[in-house]
Amino acid sequence: MLIDTYGRVATDLRVSLTDRCNLRCTYCMPEEGLQWLAKPDLLTDDEIVRLVDIAVTSLGIEEVRFTGGEPLLRPGLVGIVERVAALTPRPRMSLTTNGIGLKRTAAALKAAGLDRVNVSLDTLRPEVFKALSRRDRHQDVLDGLEAARTAGLTPVKVNAVLMPGLNDDEAPDLLAWALDHGYELRFIEQMPLDAQHGWKRDGMVTAGDILASLRTRFELTPEGQGERGSAPAERWLVDGGPHRVGVIASVTRPFCAACDRTRLTADGQIRTCLFATEETDLRAALRSDAGDEEIARIWRLAMWGKKAGSGLDDPSFLQPDRPMSAIGG
Ligand code: GTP
Ligand code: 5AD
Ligand code: SF4
Repeated sequence: MLIDTYGRVATDLRVSLTDRCNLRCTYCMPEEGLQWLAKPDLLTDDEIVRLVDIAVTSLGIEEVRFTGGEPLLRPGLVGIVERVAALTPRPRMSLTTNGIGLKRTAAALKAAGLDRVNVSLDTLRPEVFKALSRRDRHQDVLDGLEAARTAGLTPVKVNAVLMPGLNDDEAPDLLAWALDHGYELRFIEQMPLDAQHGWKRDGMVTAGDILASLRTRFELTPEGQGERGSAPAERWLVDGGPHRVGVIASVTRPFCAACDRTRLTADGQIRTCLFATEETDLRAALRSDAGDEEIARIWRLAMWGKKAGSGLDDPSFLQPDRPMSAIGG
């Protein structure tokens, strides 16, 4: 079991498969991209599968989410999914992606054993997509979403970040569109995890802003008590239900007390939190021939050091060195 000193138990493992991305979202990275991790520093497919195996057999992990950067850029993705699906006990498996390339891979991912996907889409307007992500790939994302639904990677969730002056007027349109297409929409508050360190608290769209904007067109009622569990998204029934909309308000309504996550970066570092300032090097252990029990012990010890929360509200808060794209969202 992965338990921390606050009594929280991690059952959800987020695995970043690459720090690379084919978009350049302004809230994430600069136009020129970043200094990507070197190939020898990345965990191999075998190393990833071995760590996931240890996590499910010895550490109580029940759900594995693959993230990036953009995880569809990892050549071995389908094979990794297939091998994780063959583990005992078999964890639930999901993928968080920008959707580009999903049209090509959705069916293969489903066949390999992936359960569901979350796709990022911030706008319904192609020109705004281009301004936000610096790439003209809006239609590819829409096609990817459709392919995911057709392949049965459901429920398909859509993640949207609203940016002032760009797409902050789109919340009701996005919700109407998501309801129409059968996707579960969640809005995410912008977090200070951009590589440029340009985040400003008074320059972000808050959960309060988003809910007020949605209520100009929809009636929202809070989801029943106890339905949230450890999910980052707080959810509302839309117009009486059954459809829902979520808000992931990491900044203004933090949910750290219920956190059930542990993270593995593409270069084999354990992070106990998105905002952790320290990491534990599992890659070094792997490559020095440590046995499974030793690796499990290092992982348990790392989680024991997990902080109470993100620290976002502390006056001394410092953004972590690694940007979101290299942590895994
Ligand atoms: P499901 O609802 O189970 O599909 O998962 P999820 O919402 O955690 O997954 P997803 O990868 O789509 O993440 C959505 C957003 O929530 C991203 O912006 C993540 O960075 C953010 N997020 C995920 N886990 C955490 C967390 O532990 N802490 C914080 N603050 N944000 C998180
Ligand atoms: N703040 C909030 N969400 C972010 N994402 C990427 N960077 C940030 C940020 N700084 C979102 C992506 C994707 C999800 C994994 O995280 O848009 O939907
Ligand atoms: Fe890529 Fe996601 Fe960052 Fe956009 S937010 S540049 S899709 S890693």
